[in-house]
Amino acid sequence: MPIRKVGVVGCGLMGSGIAQVSAQAGFPTVVREVSPALLEKGMGAIKKFLQGGVDKGKLAAADMEKTLAHLTGTVRLEDLADCDLVIEAAVESLTLKKELFAELDKTCGPKTVLASNTSSLSITELATATQRPERFLGLHFFNPVPLMKLVEVVKTLATSAEAVSEASAWCRAIGKTVVTVGDSTGFVVNRLLVPYMLDAVRVYEQGLASRDDIDNAMKLGCGYPMGPLFLGDYVGLDTTYYIAQIMFDEFKEPRFAPPPLLKRMVLAGRHGRKTGRGFYDWSTNPPS
Ligand code: CAA
Repeated sequence: MPIRKVGVVGCGLMGSGIAQVSAQAGFPTVVREVSPALLEKGMGAIKKFLQGGVDKGKLAAADMEKTLAHLTGTVRLEDLADCDLVIEAAVESLTLKKELFAELDKTCGPKTVLASNTSSLSITELATATQRPERFLGLHFFNPVPLMKLVEVVKTLATSAEAVSEASAWCRAIGKTVVTVGDSTGFVVNRLLVPYMLDAVRVYEQGLASRDDIDNAMKLGCGYPMGPLFLGDYVGLDTTYYIAQIMFDEFKEPRFAPPPLLKRMVLAGRHGRKTGRGFYDWSTNPPS
């Protein structure tokens, strides 16, 4: 059964990006937030990104209008009832996500594929909140969603081949490249990326090199678009810390253990771009 209508739960950084790319590809898309104020903020972010595309000459003004016409905002979960695919992109809380999925399971039709954009929680565990483990999977997008080409499609032992195929076809239809991965904490990208980012903090913490030298080393030595400390600020140091803790709990390997400096920065509110200060000062443009 092809995906025709899409629901997105959460219109934050990831949810707004997912709703945008879905609507941009022509899928009627309903995005749900918990309050009108958060919905307005998320919709505002989508409009700003689309307008940026128009200003850069990447998007025709008419296509911006078409995208917005495909997009509906709501604060009611029931408005996602007739969607063929619902992607949850709410905050990374197991309890909250399980509550949401239990409700979606009751609200949506039996054929609806339920998916989570979680970056670190177990898809298998989230699926236990529903009566449809065979139509439950992970769809892990990357930040910034409209620009990053990858989606990790995460299948559990119970996910059916049909659900994987339907969700993968939709990901390709919105212009993404799909990799299919098993349900293991961090999937493939974060399994490799998080230890690398944590090691960059350790190198800095040990005084081996300055912030700029670490970031330039990886940008110019490996051709990465951002250095690891800049990327940590960009993703959110709180998010990086949180994911690392979950991975450490799962694997008990020192390479996933968050370094003390990262913990101190999170405690001090230096979360990177989102709080204006991390390894970089984000009040300047470009960050300094
Ligand atoms: N609309 C349309 N196109 C836009 C746009 C907009 N609003 N804004 C930018 N673009 C286009 C640009 O025109 C440019 O296109 P071309 O390549 O054709 O010229 C392209 O997007 C790149 O934009 P910029 O030139 O402005 O910026 P950049 O070259 O510095 O790239 C970036 C920005 C894509 C974010 C790049 O720095 C990058 O890839 N960084 C790494 C990000 C990353 O690693 N993300 C993963 C984080 S981990 C994660 O998300 C998982 C998790 O679980 C935590």
